[in-house]
Amino acid sequence: MHIAEQVRLALQKSSTIRKMFEEGARLKAKYGADQVHDFSLGNPCNEPPPAVQQALHALVTAPPPRLHSYMPNAGHPSTRAALAAWLTQRDQLAVSADDVVMCVGAGGGLNVVLKAILNPDDEVIAIAPYFVEYDSYARNHGGRLVVCDSDAQFHLDCNRIAAALTPRTRAVLINSPNNPTGVVYHAAELQRLGKLLQAHQAKHPTQTLYLLSDEPYRQIVYDDVQCSSIGNFYDNAIIVTSFSKDMGLAGERIGYIYVSPRCTLPDLRAALALTTRTLGFVNAPSLMQKVAEHALAAPVDVTSLDHKRTAMAEILRAAGLKFSLPQGAFYFFPSVPGGDDAGFCEFLQKNYRILVVAGRTFGRRGHFRLSYSVPDQVIANSRQAWLDAVRAWQQT
Ligand SMILES: Cc1ncc(COP(=O)(O)O)c(C=O)c1O
Repeated sequence: MHIAEQVRLALQKSSTIRKMFEEGARLKAKYGADQVHDFSLGNPCNEPPPAVQQALHALVTAPPPRLHSYMPNAGHPSTRAALAAWLTQRDQLAVSADDVVMCVGAGGGLNVVLKAILNPDDEVIAIAPYFVEYDSYARNHGGRLVVCDSDAQFHLDCNRIAAALTPRTRAVLINSPNNPTGVVYHAAELQRLGKLLQAHQAKHPTQTLYLLSDEPYRQIVYDDVQCSSIGNFYDNAIIVTSFSKDMGLAGERIGYIYVSPRCTLPDLRAALALTTRTLGFVNAPSLMQKVAEHALAAPVDVTSLDHKRTAMAEILRAAGLKFSLPQGAFYFFPSVPGGDDAGFCEFLQKNYRILVVAGRTFGRRGHFRLSYSVPDQVIANSRQAWLDAVRAWQQT
């Protein structure tokens, strides 16, 4: 066996999405990109805001001394201080630079946190449907993902979470705005979750239970929807986020971890800086930390995504599909007529060159995920294909 068993199994599991990407590339080469309706990827389609370009330009033309050198593993002190000031204002919590650790995208940040908090066989509760990589991230550090279903509207089901908690639960991992559902959790449900975790923590005082919130879509919300900060509902809370989606910087791998200032556990912050180093990241990319520091306050403009959301919703509705309008992020998660999500996605791809991802990939069958972070033309071009495809599927 030339590769690790765990990696071999992960390769098998991810083969559906990989095959779809490969098939997408093949279809585009054969028929032309405008003849393929590719809604499979959560890749930001907007260019970074002008503040990012300005910061890059300033940094390249007049670089501060030692810009490209190592720095403290947690990141540039000035970047962490700027983030702390911004978070203090946004979340109404007294965040200090010590609470912030810069990381290599949210994916890197989640690995840094899990490395720091998991002992072998510790459990991490994730809420289905969930971001596909969580399973690998928990396993990377000897942990085990315990999947707990959300309710019928994809909100938190505290009864199910309560039933899943054990003395081995080290973290409950939530994601709002959610990939793949587009749901944003309300303050009231986060408050209920906080109370539940507090009660569990009180019963098991020697085993720390964390609330870990994965928030790369935090700045992408529509219709004045408000995201609440989990630091207000539970003390041992850790937030992981990035500039991948809201600033269109996914390829630059820049994000940050922030520990709630109410979390007084000794050594946690030092542990995060240490695991950043020992995982081989050493520190988040220096230039991008500086860009983030300067562009931080730039407003995130969701107007264009909102237009895409409206246009896509109109097409899906006309096709007769059932869905809730996303409140945040950039995904629809409609139900599949008849429920066979894998069959439906294959049917769309083979017969109509529509690429979407089956709900089972995210731990919820009977649905499919569609990313509308695509050029407007892709949405407009797909209209007839959707109408024909859903009609034909219902006749099969
Ligand atoms: C829910 C969720 N978490 C984490 C990530 C990883 O984000 P990043 O590119 O910042 O590592 C993604 C990326 O798609 C995501 O959807």
